[in-house]
Amino acid sequence: MELRSTSATQTRAIGAAIASVADAGDVVVLTGDLGTGKTVLAQGIAAALGVDEPVVSPTFTLMREYDGRLPVRHLDVYRLDHVQEAIDLGLEELLDDGVVLVEWGEGVREVLPAERLEVALSLLPPDAADDDTRRIEIAAVGAGWAARRDALVAALDALAGVRPC
Ligand SMILES: Nc1ncnc2c1ncn2[C@@H]1O[C@H](COP(=O)(O)OP(=O)(O)O)[C@@H](O)[C@H]1O
Ligand SMILES: [Mg+2]
Repeated sequence: MELRSTSATQTRAIGAAIASVADAGDVVVLTGDLGTGKTVLAQGIAAALGVDEPVVSPTFTLMREYDGRLPVRHLDVYRLDHVQEAIDLGLEELLDDGVVLVEWGEGVREVLPAERLEVALSLLPPDAADDDTRRIEIAAVGAGWAARRDALVAALDALAGVRPC
């Protein structure tokens, strides 16, 4: 699925649509350059999962944990020491009862579970440094997400103003 978001609000709404089909044990991997909206999307997912405190970028700590309808664990593994910490921690440990959101997932690809939702954000057009338009590509990896693909597409289709790329 390839969507176009023209505002941070729309990107949050896309996060909410993802949250509407999310379940305990899910991992959402958020990739894209700095400033493309990974944290904004994570905020949309967390808010829709019932997290009412502000979700801030976990830049100086590997992980922040929030209470929502499900526990939400938000990791940012941009820093190389975080990659090693994530490997040492073992992501499986975090998966039983909650939803795990990982920014900069490529760095820890080797420790990511086989089942995951991958969300890649980029500027659109690619060289528009201060434009508000983003391309958001969503890929369901593994049978668990594939089974929910139709529900996810329906939730995304229902979003006002969000269009395919
Ligand atoms: N369509 C959009 N989607 C997401 N963020 C957007 C959009 N347009 C502008 N922005 C702005 O871009 C910035 C994205 O920041 P952030 O989510 O922290 O990026 P990242 O986590 O990828 O480094 C925010 O300041 C946000 O308001
Ligand atoms: Mg971020």
